[in-house]
Amino acid sequence: MEALQRLDQLESEAPDRIAAASDLENLARIEAETVGKRSPLLEIRRGLGSLPDEERREVGRRVNEVAQLLGSLIAQRRSILETAAMDEALRAEEVDVTLPGRRPPRGTRHLIDAIQQEVVDIFVSMGYTVATGPEAETEFYNFTALNIPYTHPSRLESDTFYLDYGEVPEGTLLRTHTSPMQARYMELHRPPVYIVVPGRVFRRDSDSTHTPSFHQIEGLAVDTDITFADLKGTLAHFARLFFGPDTKTKFIPHYFPFTEPSAEMHAYADGRWLELLGCGMVDPAVFGHVGYDPDQVTGFAFGMGIERLAMVRHGITDIRALYDPDLRILRQFR
Ligand code: PHE
Repeated sequence: MEALQRLDQLESEAPDRIAAASDLENLARIEAETVGKRSPLLEIRRGLGSLPDEERREVGRRVNEVAQLLGSLIAQRRSILETAAMDEALRAEEVDVTLPGRRPPRGTRHLIDAIQQEVVDIFVSMGYTVATGPEAETEFYNFTALNIPYTHPSRLESDTFYLDYGEVPEGTLLRTHTSPMQARYMELHRPPVYIVVPGRVFRRDSDSTHTPSFHQIEGLAVDTDITFADLKGTLAHFARLFFGPDTKTKFIPHYFPFTEPSAEMHAYADGRWLELLGCGMVDPAVFGHVGYDPDQVTGFAFGMGIERLAMVRHGITDIRALYDPDLRILRQFR
């Protein structure tokens, strides 16, 4: 009856072990030791064949009973442990959606961009629309269409960055001003024209007040009865909106090949007169290049440097500070 005793013992001890199994791994070990291939239960079952008939039946029945009992206890325990393991995994992956997020550092608009936008807004408030053009320009639009003679010093290699794009009549360059858009725009639109053209321009210049790349805003107004008084009124109005209502302006004769007469506008700010922009009445030769009839229309144009406006307004003495990657400089202007 040794086999029956061992089965009784197994039946009384194994349930407590199974109930105490702390995790799935632990339970698997207990399973192997109680009902697995090398367990006493299997050993007894394997020995059934050598028992006398009577005893074999009795022991066989008990083996099945105990195996069934332990098998179902193990299955129960396994399902409890599996649920617990799943709960634990879910808890570990829980996301607290109420936590404050990690904010990326907030960037700001660069001073040049902000001033450009401010100038554009002032002219838009006077009814102008915005046009933009290419930074890589043809020599034709940058110079020839603007009545700039082939002998003009601004065409020299020492002043202009030339490009080599091959088969374009008259060659290509980085535009030295935003004025080429005067010709480009008029070629495609009939008057009246009231546009401003913000953009990047390039010159071979580098010192405390010049950088090889800087920004301009061009203005062009063409209509049937535009006079020099309109030019003065418009630009004086701009200066008052930009620098303050008491800003005085004066116009000093100047020369540009594409305007006649031409002038520089100076503004009185911070106790001194400052040169702000170039301007003038559109030269009839320019109208001729774009197919406008100089007997039908008149107009004025102007061009101003954005960096210059920024330096005047903020008392910046070295233009290179505007392109310094040191954020402490840029953060002063947000
Ligand atoms: N394009 C000229 C410059 O860059 C400025 C200008 C524009 C002058 C329009 C007159 C009319 O200096």
